[in-house]
Formats: sequence, structure tokens, C-alpha cells
Amino acid sequence: MPGKTPEKAELRFGEKSWELPVLKGSAGDIALDIRSLRKQSGMVVFDPGLANTACCASRICFVDGEKGRLFYRGYPVEYLVENHEFVEVAYLLVHSRLPDPDERLRFSKLLNRHSLIHEDMQHFFRNYPEGAHPMAILSAMVVSLSTFYPELEASAEEEIDVTVTRLLSKLRTIAAFSYKKSVGEAFVYPSHRLKYCENLLNMMFSSPVVDYQLDPVVVRTLDRVLTLHADHGQNCSTTTMRTVGSAGANLYASVAAAICALWGDLHGGANQAVVDMLERIAADGGNVERAVEDAKSGDRSRRLMGFGHRVYKAYDPRARIAKKLYHDLARHLELDDPLHEIAVRLEEKALTDPYFTERGLYPNVDFYTGLIFRAIGVPRDMFTVMFALGRLPGWIAHWLEQYSSTERRIVRPRQLYVGPDPRPHRTSPS
Ligand code: ACO
Repeated sequence: MPGKTPEKAELRFGEKSWELPVLKGSAGDIALDIRSLRKQSGMVVFDPGLANTACCASRICFVDGEKGRLFYRGYPVEYLVENHEFVEVAYLLVHSRLPDPDERLRFSKLLNRHSLIHEDMQHFFRNYPEGAHPMAILSAMVVSLSTFYPELEASAEEEIDVTVTRLLSKLRTIAAFSYKKSVGEAFVYPSHRLKYCENLLNMMFSSPVVDYQLDPVVVRTLDRVLTLHADHGQNCSTTTMRTVGSAGANLYASVAAAICALWGDLHGGANQAVVDMLERIAADGGNVERAVEDAKSGDRSRRLMGFGHRVYKAYDPRARIAKKLYHDLARHLELDDPLHEIAVRLEEKALTDPYFTERGLYPNVDFYTGLIFRAIGVPRDMFTVMFALGRLPGWIAHWLEQYSSTERRIVRPRQLYVGPDPRPHRTSPS
């Protein structure tokens, strides 16, 4: 929990004044504690988009927006991407420490044990129409899991690991099956011989007639991209997760809601929107100058997708890593994607334009990850599904943190009513 500082802030309005406690986070962030504000003064705060509001205290992730740094449970994301696999990072987020070899082995065994989805659930896939967006299927299938599997009941480590690995493993299977459904191919089952990302790629790209050849560089790149997405503080989908969970909804229902929030193109859907934008620029003869001018018009539909961030006012460290991962992968696969050259020129053009520099608008994680997924052969409407697989451990960690918090309260903000005064109306005869 945040530490109380001896200082108090004073709020004055008219003749009256009130004292408000000041809280300090472990990285030095300062927050005005307004929990008693309405009781004391009758006032609420007005903060659309919650841009200035800390909704909770959390130990999971620190995003240093000013310096462009990101830490999961105290470890810099660069270190984790370089030295640990996604499954270990998932363990870290949930348990607050990296696993020792025995814990790692047990976690992996649980992931394998829970990788199949109930045979009856497979029938659900058949009834979605052709071309159904995999994010819709993913969300619906996750909430359906709650009808097949028990909710989290105990806080014992054993129970948490079972629930967490069940979700991590089954979401991967559902994601791959959603893809197979969308291309009209037979499902490929998970294999105990394969590791987390190998299994995902194999389930997506193998078929009953042709084996998918796993390339260790592709596998490792995908694993690192999942780690890049694993958590990011109170982003829109994680806040959704916590909001839904705060009402007492179960873990599956909360994840299903978070998936829907992630789908939006101002959030995780941006990875798909970036590649759409790069293709539009390519069709316009590669005219990045026009794209940058359009983005400055104030028209929201013409923004540079994959640019800007609520918290980062410096280069997003995840974008820097993703850019290098893409570069190395493209070299390894000997790719020459014309969209890559457009992305690089677009970034250069925007970063020398005062409109972007003055507003602190830099590439975010989604700017290069769409190109990585494209290089791996992931179809465009699966990009955000890949993001969801990466973000899942973070969502779970936040749900668990809130679930066990003594300060848990239902999320129920106020509003500033600006509608009509009570209107004359006929009362019905009693
Ligand atoms: N292109 C052009 N202008 C932009 C962009 C952009 N991508 N992003 C913000 N701006 C401008 C705004 O028009 C505004 O200008 P103004 O001060 O003249 O009014 C200023 O920068 C501040 O923008 P806000 O909308 O207030 O920023 P906010 O924090 O609310 O939004 C967001 C952040 C949604 C990420 C925004 O930057 C955006 O729309 N980016 C494009 C979509 C995107 O890439 N989303 C992925 C984010 S990362 C993630 O969720 C995984």
C-alpha cells in the first residue's frame, strides 16, 4: 500500500478549506488522497478518461512514462525479454518472483495438462459465421469456460497455479482454433512435446496433411513479443478486468470483458490498424509526408496508428525492442516487406515534426508488432488475439491482486450531471 507522507495538501474553495493526505508510491509518484473529499466538501473530481486518477495501488508493474522505462515486479522489461521465457514472466507476474527450476517444471507440466478444451466446447466454434472476428470468438469462448471449469475458490498457491495455467493454456488453444475456424481448416490439437509458443504456432499452421516446420528464431521472437505485452499497469483492458472483477465477477468473465476492451483500435486493436494504415500509405505511392500532415489535422480517424500513449511521453521501450526484433527477424527470414520501409520513413518523418515532438508522440508497442506478426504469417485479424495471449498473465495478476486486497471496493465512479432539470410530467392515477 502507498506510504502516507507527513505533508498534507490544502484545498480552498470560497471561504472554506480542507486538508487532504498526500500519498507516495515506491517510485516517488505523489498522489492526493481524495477518499474523504466528498464527505468533507460535497465535491467530486472531474477526470474524463481517468487521465489523472490512480484507481488503485499496485505492486505488479511500473511504467515510467517520462523516462520511457517499464518494469515487471521490479525487473526491467529489456532484461526479461533477453533472459527469460514468456512462461517464466507469466509466473513472475502472478507470484511476484521468478520460478526456480522445480517451479518452472511444475508450471510447464500444468500448462500441458490443461491445454485441451472440453470436447463439447469445440462444437461452439462450428456455429460462428464465416469471417467472424477471432476477438469476438475468443471473448465468447473464455466466458464459456466458466460453465465448464470451477471458479477460483482458494488462495492456496496450488489452486492459483491450476487456475492460471488452465487459462493460459486454454486461451492459446482457443486462439489457434479461432484461426482454424476462420480459414475453414481442421483443428490441430496441442502437443505435450512442444513448448508454449511452439504449440501455438503448430496449432495455427500445421494441418492434418502438412507439418509446420518450427523455426527457433520465429518461436523465440514470438515468445519475446508476448513478454513485451505481458503487463502495462492500468491500461484500458486491465482497468476493465479490475472493474468487472470488483463487482465480484469470476476470473473468466473478467478476462472476457478485458478481451473486448483490448479489441478497440485505440488500444490493442492498433496493431491491426497500423498495418492497414501502412497499406493505405503504400497505395498512395508511399507518401508518408501526406500521412503525417493528415494526422495533424485534428481528425481522429486520420491519426497515426501506433503513435502516442497516455503514459509515455518518451519513446515506448517496448516499441524500441519490437523494432529490433522485427529487424532481426526480417533479416533471418530474408524478408523484403515494402511496409517496413514505409514504417521506418513514417517514424523518421513524424519524429522530426514539432507537432509530434511537442506533444510527446512516439511509436508505441503496436507500431512494429503488426509487422512481426505479418512476418510470422499471422493473419491480420489475429494480431490482437496474439496481444491478448501476451497480456493474459498481467490481467490475471491484477485480478488476483484485487481479489486478495483488503481495500477492494466495487468500482463505481460518479458523474457530473448536465442533463435537463426535472420536467413536468403527469403522474398516473393510483
Ligand atoms: N496521431 C496524431 N495526433 C495524435 C495522436 C496520433 N496517434 N495521438 C495523440 N494525438 C494528439 C491529439 O490529437 C492531441 O492533440 P491536441 O493537444 O492538439 O488536442 C494530443 O496528441 C494528445 O492526445 P490525447 O488524445 O489527449 O491522448 P490520449 O492520452 O487521450 O490518447 C492514445 C492516447 C489513445 C494512445 C492516442 O495517442 C491515439 O489515439 N493513438 C493512436 C492509436 C494507438 O496507437 N493506440 C495504441 C496505444 S498503446 C496500447 O494501447 C497498447
